Amino acid sequence: MLGRLQDIEKPLLDWYRVNKRPLPWRMRKDPYEIWISEIMCQQTRVEVVKDYFTRFLEALPTVEALAACPQERLMKLWEGLGYYNRARNMQTAAQQVVERYQGKLPADPKALKSLKGIGDYTAGAIASIAYDIPVPAVDGNVLRVISRVMERREDIAKQSVRRRIEQEIQEVMPTDRPGDYDQALMELGALVCLPGGQAKCSQCPLESLCLAAAHGTVEALPVKSRPKPRKIEKRTVLVIQDGDCVAIRKRASKGLLADLYELPNVEEHLNEKEVLDLVRSMDLVPLRIRPLGEAKHVFSHVEWRMLGYQVRVQQLEGKQQGDMIFAGHTEVQRDHAIPSAFDAFVGDIKGDGGVEDRREP
Ligand code: ADE
Ligand code: SF4
Repeated sequence: MLGRLQDIEKPLLDWYRVNKRPLPWRMRKDPYEIWISEIMCQQTRVEVVKDYFTRFLEALPTVEALAACPQERLMKLWEGLGYYNRARNMQTAAQQVVERYQGKLPADPKALKSLKGIGDYTAGAIASIAYDIPVPAVDGNVLRVISRVMERREDIAKQSVRRRIEQEIQEVMPTDRPGDYDQALMELGALVCLPGGQAKCSQCPLESLCLAAAHGTVEALPVKSRPKPRKIEKRTVLVIQDGDCVAIRKRASKGLLADLYELPNVEEHLNEKEVLDLVRSMDLVPLRIRPLGEAKHVFSHVEWRMLGYQVRVQQLEGKQQGDMIFAGHTEVQRDHAIPSAFDAFVGDIKGDGGVEDRREP
């Protein structure tokens, strides 16, 4: 019979054994490693996460090390992954684990959920993958696979729909190696049951059970209501430079990208004259200005439409100006986490050479 959830176990697990990716956190079943990888994977593609994961684990190999890490260093390790609050929450949770559980992540999903930043999904993933406890771990991939196999038309953005799917998985999941079952569902969603018209049904181990495949409704599922549209903000971003030195400043400790470093920027799109006036108002002497073009960056609730300018100024070195720091690119690269929103303009000062050396003829 089509669409019966209890029938997917065998074909799904057989498929997973052969097709699972050899990811670095799958080598051992270490709860700390699973936790880090799951938080990282919530925001970034698995292929990108691999390198971050390895670097993070080398720097902070234990819960205790994470708990004690200076925040600037933690932000630097997370730089480019986005959603920086997730890293801050992880650190708070690590401190809770040290205080309450002697540094060892608990196995009980309820205890896991009492930790900062750990919700149903992450608790389910840690409990099932690291501790073999049969609880579901339902992410977007899993919601898509299940909606299609059972041809569910409910809105997966709704918490109630997600809960119901969690319950249904809970009822059929095996007690033997539950972590493989959860990961197999995710893996199928990531590799085969792809969104939109990309699904590879002819290669899918569930094809003969899948209602959506049988009825030709794969592309229409899952149904997901759109969140409200993002606010669009225009900003002008300045690369203020003197030789190797560039101006950066620390962002406020509340709100978007809290406590991270940024290139100086203001609201609205300024022209060259307005930028030069602005730079003079910062008590700096502009020598030369060059437009760096436009770039945009999409956050979860806002979108920045940025216009960049490079401004060469006199004598930046050693200067202190309000909340700005003037630093060499080696120092910026080593010490300061600049979110990737600024990559279009900051790319070269983080690497070797500086904007100047690369872009000038
Ligand atoms: N995406 C996030 N976590 C995953 C996991 N453990 N396996 C497969 N895909 C994932
Ligand atoms: Fe997804 Fe197609 Fe497999 Fe159904 S048959 S689970 S739609 S890939």
